[in-house]
Amino acid sequence: EKGGFDTYMLKEIYEQPQALTNTLIGRLHDDTGEVNLDINLNPQSFKRISIIACGTAYYAGLVGEYLIEQLARVPVEVDVASEYRYRNPLVSENTLAIVVSQSGETIDTLEALREAKKGGAKTLGVINAKGSSMTRELDDTLYIHAGPEIGVASTKAYTSMVSAFVMLALWLGRARGTLSEMEAKDLLHAARELPRLVEEALAPERVEQIRRVAEKYAHARDYLFLGRGVNAPTAYEGALKLKEISYIHAEAYAAGEMKHGPIALIDAQLPVVVVATESRLLEKTISNVQEVRARSGKVILLLSDGDSENARHADDVLYVPRAHEMVSPVVNAVAMQLLAYFTATALGKDVDKPRNLAKSVTVE
Ligand code: M6R
Repeated sequence: EKGGFDTYMLKEIYEQPQALTNTLIGRLHDDTGEVNLDINLNPQSFKRISIIACGTAYYAGLVGEYLIEQLARVPVEVDVASEYRYRNPLVSENTLAIVVSQSGETIDTLEALREAKKGGAKTLGVINAKGSSMTRELDDTLYIHAGPEIGVASTKAYTSMVSAFVMLALWLGRARGTLSEMEAKDLLHAARELPRLVEEALAPERVEQIRRVAEKYAHARDYLFLGRGVNAPTAYEGALKLKEISYIHAEAYAAGEMKHGPIALIDAQLPVVVVATESRLLEKTISNVQEVRARSGKVILLLSDGDSENARHADDVLYVPRAHEMVSPVVNAVAMQLLAYFTATALGKDVDKPRNLAKSVTVE
């Protein structure tokens, strides 16, 4: 049932091209730049959006915040559900609350959803599990159709959730007139490319390179992950994956925050993974990389294919296929998952059953 793979996690990592196809299929209209999400809510009626989730789903929500604010110009806030439910949140009929959950059963997210409804918010779910508890209480559900995810560490659900947010941002941006037809078509084409790009990200020589790097640093005590903009959450997700399955202590920051504290941690023993794929802000990220180098940190750079120029700033490079910046978190996440995976297996850990963790957290 693991389809020839050693673990569910690895199987699910390799299922991502298909999972993404299933997330996107039938929803993208190339000729018009429109998406069809079968959502009955009126996209023009919201003044603000609250995204609520836990763990990896929360990081998908952070990407969603970036995409929606950039493309639809609606104010978005993102909360971890366990905070939202107890903070007496400001909600009105003009609020759209979006809950994000693979299982649809996470108790904090479910209770946060109830809290948002109590305040009069309209509610939308980005959910994987059909007919799960949340879907029975939501006004509308955007299923991600990633298929069953068994590995405790979420992989394909994350990339499918992020892709769902690309479509939501398109939907909102078009309906609210903030996104031109040309921009929408451009993004839509970029989204359509995702299954192929992720397939390419899983090419054997790339996977081998990630394995080599993972093994080289598998005995590190700590890891630091940095990223900016739409890829800051890629760094957070990379650190969470590594912690969950390899038990290596990992921290993640928006790259520009490093000099406000975490830079004190850097020494020659610290591997620092920096998401430095093509972006408007790449130069800024590279100057952060130089700060790490100046303190002898070991730099592992995630670079877009062909960027040999920036490779000279790295101890090790992981190349990923080039993607439109707004969809790049999907492609970049795959490298993060594999880095965590091969670190954990190099250390002999049971990645499908990491200690102290459950697949679905249904108790507080
Ligand atoms: O089922 P959910 O998406 O609501 O689960 C949320 C988190 O518990 C989950 O993402 C958790 O952080 C994973 N173990 C991450 O790999």
